[in-house]
Amino acid sequence: MFITFEGLDFCGKSTQVELLKEYLIKRNKAVKIIREPGGTKISEKIRDLLLDRDNNEMIPLTELLLFTASRVQLVKQIIIPSIEKGTFVISDRFHDSSIAYQGYGRGIDLDFVIPLQNFAIKGAEPDITFFLDIPVQEVNKRKRKLTQQQLDRIEISKNKFYEDVRMGYLKIAEKEKRFKIINGLNSIEEIHKQIINEINKLENIGS
Ligand code: TYD
Repeated sequence: MFITFEGLDFCGKSTQVELLKEYLIKRNKAVKIIREPGGTKISEKIRDLLLDRDNNEMIPLTELLLFTASRVQLVKQIIIPSIEKGTFVISDRFHDSSIAYQGYGRGIDLDFVIPLQNFAIKGAEPDITFFLDIPVQEVNKRKRKLTQQQLDRIEISKNKFYEDVRMGYLKIAEKEKRFKIINGLNSIEEIHKQIINEINKLENIGS
């Protein structure tokens, strides 16, 4: 099974990825965790380029193509071989991030972004995607706990950008049955319960 997590920055995805991993391992499942951008040697180098705050002159199309290049490498090198072995693959972000951030957020034509993503992920379509939804106000609240220096190139974006990205995710949710919207303001335990409930609906893993 291939599971992806999506949401605005600071929505709590990484915590939920960890909890789900522990849950599956306890049930003797083989699990592979990946994060995007990154996950292979080449993809990690692309990640550094993308998140480096010195690269503030990066053109949105360059950004989209770099995220996508990193993804292609990950799909072919890690995701498809792992799925073929029967491993549960969990990705902290995937192609929906490019549709939401570069398509809806940066305003790149969706008629280009969506087919590009479909082409890039061929053979690795997620079975289920959890969208941890938090309002932009909450992103700001959580961001305030960090210093400016701790924020990467994308995280220093303005509210309008985050509003567009969130709206983008909600549009994807209208179209994609695999998309499960989870209220990211709920407690960590409550969110985890909802996630395993959905996973069990797809594949009975047992308790
Ligand atoms: P990261 O530090 O991994 O953030 P998070 O923990 O929130 O996932 O940085 C990834 C950043 O890149 C994040 O701000 C979202 C952004 N991003 C895109 O804009 N497009 C993409 O396709 C992906 C995968 C990420």
